[in-house]
Amino acid sequence: MITVKEATELRRAVDGYRRAGERVGFVPTMGALHEGHLSLVRCARELADRVVASIFVNPSQFNQREDLERYPRTPERDAALLEEAGCDLLFLPEVETLYPSGPVASSTWVVPEGPAEGLEGEFRPGHFRGVATVVLKLFGLVRPDLAVFGEKDAQQLAVVQRMVADFHLPVEIVPGSTLREEDGLAMSSRNVRLDPEERRAALVLSRALREARETARAEGPGGSADAVRRVLREKLSSEPLARIDYAEVVDAESFRPVERLAGEIVLPIAVWIGETRLIDNVRLDLEA
Ligand code: PAJ
Repeated sequence: MITVKEATELRRAVDGYRRAGERVGFVPTMGALHEGHLSLVRCARELADRVVASIFVNPSQFNQREDLERYPRTPERDAALLEEAGCDLLFLPEVETLYPSGPVASSTWVVPEGPAEGLEGEFRPGHFRGVATVVLKLFGLVRPDLAVFGEKDAQQLAVVQRMVADFHLPVEIVPGSTLREEDGLAMSSRNVRLDPEERRAALVLSRALREARETARAEGPGGSADAVRRVLREKLSSEPLARIDYAEVVDAESFRPVERLAGEIVLPIAVWIGETRLIDNVRLDLEA
């Protein structure tokens, strides 16, 4: 695996792959890698001839400076894990490379609407503007044939899919399923912030989703979304350490709340456990 920091070096390497007729798969990350990230690298490995991963803690998608500063950074460990997972090239840009006039004064932004509104878009204003902008910049630099995004961040996946469709970007977006710890907690770089008591309390997220999924299945196509919301919220509220930002039932493409269960739906939740904000979701196909 080679590691590059500069855009010109990246271009040279990727040009080489392309000249050799190789398909390039891309996995963008913010580092502090875990098995969830590595599963996306392995997925790209299967679908492409070359795998490029990036690690960039993108300032413009953080709402609070403190969260940005506290974001875990483990570059040496990450590089070793990526190499082991079959990554060919690690792109580690500096902030100036992606934001030549700085992350605040940057002049061109992608401001996504549609699936970017509501939920994360409401609780983290500007978050998806930062995500969509940095993903477009990274696509411009890496020019991948395909890019793998985790279903763990289901709304982000929907926003990126919509941007790619709306701008006719020549990249295929491949969803990667959510990897969980053995007890069900979705893997996340933020999990390291949980103390033992909070780590136990955090199990309420996956348990609530499991129960709500059963309710949705029992309701079946055309069933009541409110019945599912109720189960989700009651279960989450039963944990004293949990504080709900949202617990919803939305259409998988538009990310708008639904009344009736039909087609592809997502149950996205965002819950504070102490000082740590966790998100998780399940996806269901309820064919009418
Ligand atoms: P980050 O949080 O580092 O996540 C990088 C990728 O890993 C995302 O596609 C995310 O959905 C996926 N991922 C995280 N946890 C996962 C899990 N448990 N199972 C499977 N995949 C998982 O998401 C971002 O970075 C940034 O917003 C980024 C897209 C890089 C733009 O800055």
